[in-house]
Amino acid sequence: MDTQVSQIQTEALAAIAAADTEAALEEVRVKFSGKKSPLNALAAGMKDLSPEEKPVAGQLLNTARQAISGALDERRQSLQDAADAASVADLDATMPARALPSGALHPLTVVKDRAIQILRRLGFALAEGPEIETEFHCFDALNTPADHPARNDSDTFYFDSGKLLRTHTSSVQVRTMEKQTPPVKIIAPGSAYRRDEIDATHLSVFNQLEGLYVDKDVRLSDLKGTLEYFYRAMFGDKTEVRFRPHFFPFTEPSFEIDVKLQVKGEAPKWIEVAGCGMVDPAVFSAVNESRGDEAFDPAQLTGYAFGMGLDRLAMIQYGIKDIRLLIENDTRFLSQFA
Ligand code: DAH
Repeated sequence: MDTQVSQIQTEALAAIAAADTEAALEEVRVKFSGKKSPLNALAAGMKDLSPEEKPVAGQLLNTARQAISGALDERRQSLQDAADAASVADLDATMPARALPSGALHPLTVVKDRAIQILRRLGFALAEGPEIETEFHCFDALNTPADHPARNDSDTFYFDSGKLLRTHTSSVQVRTMEKQTPPVKIIAPGSAYRRDEIDATHLSVFNQLEGLYVDKDVRLSDLKGTLEYFYRAMFGDKTEVRFRPHFFPFTEPSFEIDVKLQVKGEAPKWIEVAGCGMVDPAVFSAVNESRGDEAFDPAQLTGYAFGMGLDRLAMIQYGIKDIRLLIENDTRFLSQFA
């Protein structure tokens, strides 16, 4: 029995070592440690042994069984390890990771945020008003006569109710003065709407930033200094700024502002960027009437106001030739700003 056991063990260990796949190893396992294994056959013959021989034979069989199952486990592990290693053999761990596309702020957002940041540094607080406005806030209170062309059906989106989509953010001047008492120093970025024919420089919805400063002794020189500072902060220290007399119903005197800029790949030229002026006393009177008090006394207070196109600023800043690119959400365009 002794030699039989050690023969079986030798044979089993050799078969285990020779099994080079997990399937082959499984066959060896069934053969040498399954129910019909030669060791089990020997064990069945133990009943014929004498009581002295039995424990010795039992011990022998156990040792052989343990050796075989230990060898099976070890071989299984090493076959698995080899398979794992083979499955990542082609992998180059030093290869750079695949780049994740990164998001970015929209160019309009970048320009708007910068404008707000500069003006907040100068003490302007953020204000807002509704985009669906009354004729009073958009036109009447801003001293705009009933026959002004901007009030025309063909220029402005009217609702059946008589309300309209605000044609400029100047309505926020009125909204703010209705709520606050002087001094008032606000900026109001937001959308405005006009029935414009859509082309490379016009959309029916666009973005403006309105400014208003009302206090005692606010002067035209304050307006000039503030806006010159603003445009130099926006476009560079040496930027030339020009105030060209103009007309707006809600300011007197009024100006258009041009900055001399070099758009990428072009000769420097004057570009119109904003309207501005000293608040017309008629605006204060309309506000007082709406408030029902004299908080904005035209005899005591002066103020300046300005309104600029933010889309225009973004187009200048980035050399964008077609305003429609700003709303088309084409990632081929937008990813250039990432
Ligand atoms: N509201 C004018 C526009 O949309 C811009 C403007 C001009 C705003 C003069 C002002 C201003 O506050 O004083 O064209």
